[in-house]
Amino acid sequence: MSQLTKELNHVEESNYSVQKNLYQSNWITNLLSGISAFVPLFIGGIFVIHGNLSLAALMAVYLASDRIVIPAVNAIDHFNKLRSSHTIVKKYDDLMDSLSLEDAQNTMTHQLTHTILPVQFQHVSHQYGERMIFKDIHLTINKGNHILLKGPSGSGKSIFFKLLLRLETPQEGTVWYNNIQDDKMSFAMLTQHLYYFEQQPLIFNDSILFNIALDDDFNDKQLRYVIRQCNLTELIQTHGWDYHVGANGERLSGGQKMRIALARILIRAPKFILLDEFSAGLDKENAIFIREVIHQEVETVIEITHDEHVNQNLYTDIYKIDNERIIEVNS
Ligand SMILES: Nc1ncnc2c1ncn2[C@@H]1O[C@H](COP(=O)(O)OP(=O)(O)O)[C@@H](O)[C@H]1O
Ligand SMILES: [Mg+2]
Repeated sequence: MSQLTKELNHVEESNYSVQKNLYQSNWITNLLSGISAFVPLFIGGIFVIHGNLSLAALMAVYLASDRIVIPAVNAIDHFNKLRSSHTIVKKYDDLMDSLSLEDAQNTMTHQLTHTILPVQFQHVSHQYGERMIFKDIHLTINKGNHILLKGPSGSGKSIFFKLLLRLETPQEGTVWYNNIQDDKMSFAMLTQHLYYFEQQPLIFNDSILFNIALDDDFNDKQLRYVIRQCNLTELIQTHGWDYHVGANGERLSGGQKMRIALARILIRAPKFILLDEFSAGLDKENAIFIREVIHQEVETVIEITHDEHVNQNLYTDIYKIDNERIIEVNS
């Protein structure tokens, strides 16, 4: 989306410079056409005075010349428009090309795979300037894994998800998605295969129903099931599905917001979910409840946290970030 916004801004800038160029070149064209109208009339006038040309002939030629000059001025105008809009046309074409390329890749990957698992990090290194974040990391996420990745604040946990989601490209190494190399994958493609649950989920200034279904069609049974699963039954019984939650969900408690965001995901039957410190701002009771529901319902989970006290029994594999590497922790 930000790519699209950037491209649209480019197009607007180009449009501005086109308008500027057009204004300047039209000014010159009009000046020249003015001169070209009066100079022949002036010279013709001298010829008439000296008897070399009849007045009728001068008028005839002068009127006829308009038939040439006006179309010529118009032609120059159109030519300028065409030439100047070339930049816009080119940018538009480039944008369309990149979008349809993404579509084509999407189709291709769908044909190749219905899952992106296993995800394999091989020899992955990543740094920002001098700041090394990961050095030669290896990690495989298999279907059915419930992975806990621990690390202190600033150690690169969120960067790990960004690498996995192709929001960042590693300087070295490869991430494989079901044996498809990362350069053939994009963020847009990956988001069709996984869900992301974070500390501050987006809550829309709309009804509870909208915040869960987001205009997709779910039947009553699915809706009733998910609100029971997410412990929202009481909220719905008290206020109803049409209850407007206010800007950023200000008419809800922190726990209710998170459980609505959870319902939005669970109703879509996720198979793979990434949890980025989702419990950091939550009370203990809600954190434990949501964590257990997710691990029970979702087949493959990666959770990153700096919390040392999570229930380690929920996980099949526990890793920590240590000295720019990801190492396994024996639980
Ligand atoms: N785009 C960026 N440019 C430069 N440094 C960054 C960028 N994104 C993150 N960092 C740095 O990388 C380190 C790890 O960040 P992050 O993965 O967000 O930490 P956390 O483990 O707390 O999630 C931090 O020191 C952060 O300042
Ligand atoms: Mg983080």
